[in-house]
Amino acid sequence: MKGVLICGGTGSRLKPLTEITNKSLLPIYDKPLILYPLEVFARAGIHEVIIISGTEHIDQMGSFLGSGARFGCNLSYRVQDAPRGIAHALSLAEEFAHGDAVCALLGDNIFFSDLSPTIRSFERGGHVFLKEVSDAQRFGVVELKNGKPVSVEEKPAHPKSNLAQTGCYLYDQRCFDIIRSLSPSARGEMEITDITKWYLDHGELSATILDDEWVDAGTFESLYRAATLVRKRRGKTQEIAKEKVQEVLR
Ligand code: G1P
Repeated sequence: MKGVLICGGTGSRLKPLTEITNKSLLPIYDKPLILYPLEVFARAGIHEVIIISGTEHIDQMGSFLGSGARFGCNLSYRVQDAPRGIAHALSLAEEFAHGDAVCALLGDNIFFSDLSPTIRSFERGGHVFLKEVSDAQRFGVVELKNGKPVSVEEKPAHPKSNLAQTGCYLYDQRCFDIIRSLSPSARGEMEITDITKWYLDHGELSATILDDEWVDAGTFESLYRAATLVRKRRGKTQEIAKEKVQEVLR
């Protein structure tokens, strides 16, 4: 399985912070946001990772992360010339994936649950990670019946459930053909939710509900919440993770 880290979008809800850098390079307590999704890959044993980002700040990402060697992974970079959506960003990873399944992660998502057992055991179809939220209309929303997904909608005005589709997606190699068959949504973007929907419609989508915190750090409030949570959770695991990061940053 290959890792695709999608750091697209203009970060418009975080201006002026995102005028000087990419959202994923903003600090979350004591390290840049992007290191959190990179840790998800590392934990799951995914060492081949491509970073997809817009033209504005990809040079800063490259100068911070470099080849990835000091983070224990092998990084490639690809520019998304215009913000045409998450599914479009993913399509740029086709050559890199080289026929393998992908774990696509959004660069502004922080997971406190351990996703690695599910990632490691993924074989075929699509898999999404869900989290109960109080403002589901802000997200992709998945409805479950007897633990199985029965509907998925992007930012519905009247959500059918309170389960948000988080920014971690496991798709087999067919996702690239699926993207070719998609049309842009009303907001002019190629939606990742439409890939998830394809697997759902073909009876090949599974889902996990996360039992620990998850943050989409795309707003000032959620950025602040993420930093507060990280600081509060400085348990043993976090200390080990921090030591590792300090080790690689040395
Ligand atoms: C994107 C996806 C949405 C998902 C969310 C998770 O939304 O389109 O389905 O729930 O990420 O972070 P965005 O944050 O780009 O509005």
